[in-house]
Amino acid sequence: MKQISVIGSISMDLVVESKRRPGAGETVIGDAFHTVPGGKGANQAVAVARLGSTVEMIGCVGSDANGEAIRENFQTQGVQTTHLQTIEGERTGTAHITLAEGDNSIVVVQSANQHVQFADDALAPILADSEIILLQLEIPIETVETVAREAHAAGIPVVLNPAPARSLSPELIEHVTYLTPNEHECGLIFGQDQPIEHWLMEYPNKLIVTEGSRGARFYDGESIVTIPAIETTVVDTTGAGDTFNGALAVALTEGQPLVEAIRFANRAAGLSIRALGAQGGMPTREQMEEDA
Ligand code: RIB
Repeated sequence: MKQISVIGSISMDLVVESKRRPGAGETVIGDAFHTVPGGKGANQAVAVARLGSTVEMIGCVGSDANGEAIRENFQTQGVQTTHLQTIEGERTGTAHITLAEGDNSIVVVQSANQHVQFADDALAPILADSEIILLQLEIPIETVETVAREAHAAGIPVVLNPAPARSLSPELIEHVTYLTPNEHECGLIFGQDQPIEHWLMEYPNKLIVTEGSRGARFYDGESIVTIPAIETTVVDTTGAGDTFNGALAVALTEGQPLVEAIRFANRAAGLSIRALGAQGGMPTREQMEEDA
């Protein structure tokens, strides 16, 4: 049976809860500290596993305690790790997250994630096992471009979650099947001189823009379709985008039409923000059905 393959970043999230975000040069007293598994790639893989699909995480951890804890977490969550590498002498990636004033701010230190790359023939067996590939931008851009190019040549769909945002080459955009920025990332990737609607229409059935509590939008070739967000209690929005991408891949591999796949992804993302931590609130299939 083919799998959903996530090629990307793996981190330990070091989360501080605080009433207020400190300004430059300022110190504030925080309320709580948590160490939880994260990294956009790892989060997407866990989101897929929670929803009951077969998934493999391809990436790198360091030879430290965080790397071991992350391997254990993948095992508990049912994420396959055949191609997960441990980089000797390197640290596992970390994300330093402040939760304050109803939103997060994140500084990522890539560490082992900088080593995600493929020797000449290493990608072929992974592609052969993959029904769809999920990519993000916390690993070297050359790796993202290589995977997208080879997957495109092999006819395997690719979802690129372009976060954190940066400029993308026209070839990379051409090689991905679905591009899923949030509204801020969309502006950073394409520029602010045109409205989002312009870019949606430029990339029909490809560009899917997530807009938080306003839902998600795409252009179906005839009109711009808005899929509203579900009503939910917000505890922590970290990982909502990752849940969206994982769930999108699940629904697409189940053969759901794009509009329904986005509805499914939107719902999963909405449910995911009810608990603390990027992976803490990711829904299981049963929870998706219960709360429907
Ligand atoms: O998308 C959320 C993730 O971004 C966090 O888990 C953190 O690791 C950062 O990479």
